[in-house]
Amino acid sequence: MSIKLTDLKSTLFAQLEALEQPRDVLKSPQLKEAYAAIPTLSPGERSTFGRDLNGLKKELMLAIESRETLMQQADLPPIDVTAPWDVNKSPASLLPVNSGSLHPLMKEKARISDIFARMGFVVEESREIDDQLHMFETLNFPKGHPARDDYDTFMTTQVDANGEALIAPAHTSTMQHRMLKKYKSNLETKNGSIAVVVPDRVFRNEDLDARHEHTFYQVEGIFVAKGVHAGMLIATLKEFLQTYYAQELDVRVNPFYFPFTEPSFEFALSCPFCEKKGCSVCSQEGWIELLGCGMIHPNVLKSAGIDPAEYTGFAFGCGIDRLVMMKYQIEDIRHFHGGKLNFLRQF
Ligand code: DAH
Repeated sequence: MSIKLTDLKSTLFAQLEALEQPRDVLKSPQLKEAYAAIPTLSPGERSTFGRDLNGLKKELMLAIESRETLMQQADLPPIDVTAPWDVNKSPASLLPVNSGSLHPLMKEKARISDIFARMGFVVEESREIDDQLHMFETLNFPKGHPARDDYDTFMTTQVDANGEALIAPAHTSTMQHRMLKKYKSNLETKNGSIAVVVPDRVFRNEDLDARHEHTFYQVEGIFVAKGVHAGMLIATLKEFLQTYYAQELDVRVNPFYFPFTEPSFEFALSCPFCEKKGCSVCSQEGWIELLGCGMIHPNVLKSAGIDPAEYTGFAFGCGIDRLVMMKYQIEDIRHFHGGKLNFLRQF
């Protein structure tokens, strides 16, 4: 037997690589020669050789087909993702819109917004890059204020018109000044008030672990009117949390410090999982420190042109990821951005 199938295989695959029409390899004289040799073989050799040759041909066919597919793809015009979208065409079939679903954080963000909207709050968006005026100055952190260090976040190397770096906001409180100015005219109407929540994304320069992410969500709230007091703040937050967790909860308010509120509080709620007995969710404390809040500092109202002698207000800022983790007993905050389908499919 003079034809070696291993040699024939390398010859045919080399020919395939070189051909413009991959199928032309089937016309190869060496392949024809091999088939022509079959009848000349002894009956014993004939069946093994025939079977192996057919196996080789099958392999060759697969290689031909995959080469053809590659060539067809290379012929397609490149996709321009920036090209204008023709609104009258149906969406490209490449986008599996029907098999996608909302991220759990987005679902919960919508739920939270909905609860506040039903309480009369307007829902606004924050931004992903902001300036030092909104991050610090209008929130009563003057230049060099030590509390600025508590909000370590990312900054651009490029500077704005004031020669200052731009900031990836470390909290949604950056929107307070804008919201106070935008809705200030509400105060002029009878019994008028400013009532806004801003659920959005914030950024911190954190060492990552099960409880800390560099990117997470907060919901900020402000309420300003005549005669607003801390009791209203506590009642609003309690009502919100009881609706969100769908159960009666006790709340605990401890004094704290934020430059933009006076007085400032840290707000804790009784653990929804153990009725204050202590469990792994609340680190055996029975209580969970959940958010910062307080009465809006007169300087913050003044910087937006609101007279603190006439109007008072409360503000709060609450981590959304934390709320959601507690609701579903999610043990690690990094799951949210991990992109693991096993995690996401549970919602
Ligand atoms: N911005 C604060 C933080 O991220 C939370 C906060 C505290 C927001 C008190 C407020 C507030 O509006 O009044 O740490």
